[in-house]
Amino acid sequence: MRTQVGIIGAGPAGLLLAHLLHLRGIESVVLETRSREDVEGTIRAGVLEQGTVDLLTDTGVGARLHREGHQHNGIELRFDGRGHRIDFAELTGRAVTVYPQHEVLKDLIARRLADGGEIRFGATVTAVEGITTETPVIRFTDADGTSGLLRCELILGGDGSRTVTRALIPEATVRTDHFRQYPFAWFGILAEAPPSSDELIYANHANGFALISTRTPTVQRHYLQVDPSDTVEDWSDDRIWHELHTRVDGEGAEIKDGTIFAKTVLGFRSFVCEPMQYGRLFLAGDAAHTVPPTGAKGLNLAVADVYVLAQAMERYFRTGATDGLDAYTATALPRVWRAQHFSWWMTSMLHRMPDATGFDHKRQLAELDTVTRSAAGRALLAENYVGAPLY
Ligand code: DHB
Repeated sequence: MRTQVGIIGAGPAGLLLAHLLHLRGIESVVLETRSREDVEGTIRAGVLEQGTVDLLTDTGVGARLHREGHQHNGIELRFDGRGHRIDFAELTGRAVTVYPQHEVLKDLIARRLADGGEIRFGATVTAVEGITTETPVIRFTDADGTSGLLRCELILGGDGSRTVTRALIPEATVRTDHFRQYPFAWFGILAEAPPSSDELIYANHANGFALISTRTPTVQRHYLQVDPSDTVEDWSDDRIWHELHTRVDGEGAEIKDGTIFAKTVLGFRSFVCEPMQYGRLFLAGDAAHTVPPTGAKGLNLAVADVYVLAQAMERYFRTGATDGLDAYTATALPRVWRAQHFSWWMTSMLHRMPDATGFDHKRQLAELDTVTRSAAGRALLAENYVGAPLY
């Protein structure tokens, strides 16, 4: 089998790149270890930056997102029992849209298949060879156990945070991994319940962080900061609702209880791989970098990466010029580090560190007070939350 771009991973990076390349007349094949049902059913975050929405809309995959997604013109930061609104519309003229990642993936898969694109679900990559030559090869095993071989000119490593492609960049001599672990996790629930708030609430509380989000008028998504060793069994429904009320209820806010139907514990880390390319291999999305979930930057960064890559690949296939490809890391990385900083900043301002003293908590409250009191502080937060335009 032969194609122009071999894409490893049918996540946001891989599927969107395949779509953007198709619009530029470039062929690709996507290889994905998991089944289509698994990819389309895995619950992830749900906040799309304005630039992500614009790109999906302008490339013809935004119809359902506009029908079923919900535009949010602000968020609330809650601390000391009171809410403080960050008005995105007023501060930036931009907004975010709450539309779950797996719905974006469903839309991209449907469009790719309608366009005659090839996505091989259940195909496990067993080897990638020749990435420093002009004729790289991807070996894989199909869902039925048969071995396959994909010859291509360029390769995308879009295989998520448990990536195997990242290891193809030689460690120490070429690759530097920047890594930070956090001493807590998020406990995420989906509940059949009415919305507790019109906008997302990010709450700082002495017991730890809580986030009130939403999916539909009848399904809500909430998160609690928990110990990283906690499991789903440690948190009964009663304990979850009690803790959400404790951390969020107060002036102008009261959590509405409901029936919990999904519970997950999410790990927390910051990671950046530099460079994001080696020879004919280009990493994008979580394979190249992971952000803590506070601020929901993960999918949006994957989108920004492949927007850069699609242009560079188009230039290469049209003219043979490699300057755009060679500049991929330098072009994509500043946005990655700005998102790392923003996610870390939101995390550090809102979460309780296990060794935090009374001083640390008071200092956090003062930081939140400083940010929300100042128009410049609110604008800084808003600009980063809605994200810089892609184009
Ligand atoms: C959601 C997740 C986030 O990490 C966030 O910052 C906001 C919302 C969500 O899943 O809805």
